[in-house]
Amino acid sequence: MKILIFPDVATASAETARRILATLAAQPCAVLGLATGGTMKPVYEALRTALGQSPATFTSFNLDEYVGLPSTHPQSYAYYMKTQLFDAVALPSAQAHLPRGDAPDPAAEATRYEAAIAAAGGIDLQLLGLGANGHIGFNEPTSSLASRTRIKTLTHKTVTDNARYFGPDEVVPRLAITMGIGTILDSRAILLLATGAGKRDAVARMIEGSISAACPATALQLHANVTVLIDEAAAANLKLRDYYETVHPGGADEIYT
Ligand code: GLP
Repeated sequence: MKILIFPDVATASAETARRILATLAAQPCAVLGLATGGTMKPVYEALRTALGQSPATFTSFNLDEYVGLPSTHPQSYAYYMKTQLFDAVALPSAQAHLPRGDAPDPAAEATRYEAAIAAAGGIDLQLLGLGANGHIGFNEPTSSLASRTRIKTLTHKTVTDNARYFGPDEVVPRLAITMGIGTILDSRAILLLATGAGKRDAVARMIEGSISAACPATALQLHANVTVLIDEAAAANLKLRDYYETVHPGGADEIYT
């Protein structure tokens, strides 16, 4: 894993966006794996500014979607992506993929989605956030490290964490369709962005803990091309922080990984 520690959220997010843009510059028709959540909003803001109404030539597959929410629901991840990125960069809808939350048969939808990723040639660059409990996508603790796209029941912690995005009278869905950990590990390169003190325990476990389904993000230790971008608050519990900062001072990328 390449661990890049930045002084603050703004610099960590800007570098994440810069790396996505560099991928698109080298490979305009790249297949991107995209993530949602509050952490990604500054990244998408930077992409909107840089890409404008081009229209976009990439193809994207989002990690996950709530079961039961149609794409028009303001808390659906489809709606998030439409408003945070897709409309602004004029991404043709045929190139923008998310699991359908309102599919009549969610299990069949998960199987279809996994096949669609394979049919597109797999994911060139996967963007990941990190749940405070160590989840990636919606792969909650005890998810199989070999799992593929499927339905997952959300933990009480995740439902509580994500309730802040829902209105007081809205019910947070308890089920999601998510790429599996095996699906994520098939990506050719991975960027994980985590910021803020609320992620410091999960960041430390992901990077320095034993590989275990108890912390799904530890599976990323098995991938040969993962870059973790964090701010100082999220880095606070890392035991080997001095080492990472020696290798990559201020988040600078060196030839040594
Ligand atoms: C959700 C998403 C994850 C995301 C996580 C963190 O659970 N399924 O993909 O990484 O939230 O979200 P936030 O960035 O809002 O902390």
